[in-house]
This record gives sequence, structure tokens and C-alpha cells, in this order.
Amino acid sequence: MRVRVVMFAAAALAAAAWVQAGARPAEARGRFQAPDGKAIYHDNCQQCHGVIGQPTKSAQAKYEHIPSFKDTTFFATRSQDSIITILKKGKGKDMKSFSEKLTPEEMTAVAQYIRTLAKK
Ligand code: HEC
Repeated sequence: MRVRVVMFAAAALAAAAWVQAGARPAEARGRFQAPDGKAIYHDNCQQCHGVIGQPTKSAQAKYEHIPSFKDTTFFATRSQDSIITILKKGKGKDMKSFSEKLTPEEMTAVAQYIRTLAKK
């Protein structure tokens, strides 16, 4: 009987620890630390889309349809949602889907960041 009570207590403690560990990362990302759109852009997009959103000459030569994010008319014709859809699904053969690499929160952050490039 005594053994059973001890085992039950141990199981309850383990469950509590598991719940706590599971709760922590989501809280850290969502509430206290929003993803950094600029850092995400630097790590995932800059190589093709350029440091300031203007693709380099070589990127333009390599990727025929690559847009410039410096161009305000580009964003005038695209909603935030449509950009996030492109990030999820990709477009053409060179703009790959980022759904394996970025979380939905990170996609939102980077979509917001590229919009700020057109204003600078
Ligand atoms: C390997 C090069 C490459 C990388 C890396 C890349 N892109 Fe692209 N991107 C392209 C090309 C090429 C196009 C043009 C696709 C087309 O229209 O066929 C494009 C198009 C786009 C468009 C315009 C889509 C539209 O509505 O027409 C957006 C927005 C965009 N990229 C955002 C991003 C973001 C944000 C990242 C980083 C998370 C990123 N790209 C990473 C090559 C790249």
C-alpha cells in the first residue's frame, strides 16, 4: 500500500514538471519576446533580397522576377496576409516555402519588417 502511494506521488510530480516545461517556451516566445523580424530577414532573406530590400545586381541577374522591397508600389498591391501566404507556400522555383524553417509568429514578424524597408 505504501509503495503505491509513493509511486502515485512520483507520477504526479513528473506530470507537473512536464506541464511546466511545456508551458515555458510558448510563454517566452509569445508574451515576453516577440520574434525579431530584422534578424529573421538577415538570416533567411537577405542573401537574395539584399541588405536593404534591394536585390544586388547578381541576384537580379539570377532571379528574373525578384522584387525590390524599396518599391512602395510593390507593397501597395500586397496585403500582409498575401505575403505570409507566399512565405508559407513559396512562389516560383526560387522563392521557397519557409514553413519548415519559420514559425507563424516569425513569418508575421518578417512580413512586417520588409514593409518597413519601403519607407526608408
Ligand atoms: C533563394 C533566394 C530567395 C530567398 C532566400 C528568399 N526569396 Fe523571396 N523571392 C525570391 C524570388 C526569386 C522571388 C520572385 C518569385 C516570383 O515572382 O516568381 C521572391 C519573391 C518574394 C516576395 C514577393 C512575392 C509576391 O507577392 O510576388 C516576397 C514578399 C518575398 N520574396 C519575401 C521573402 C522573405 C520574407 C524571405 C525570407 C524569409 C525571402 N523572400 C527569401 C527569392 C528568394
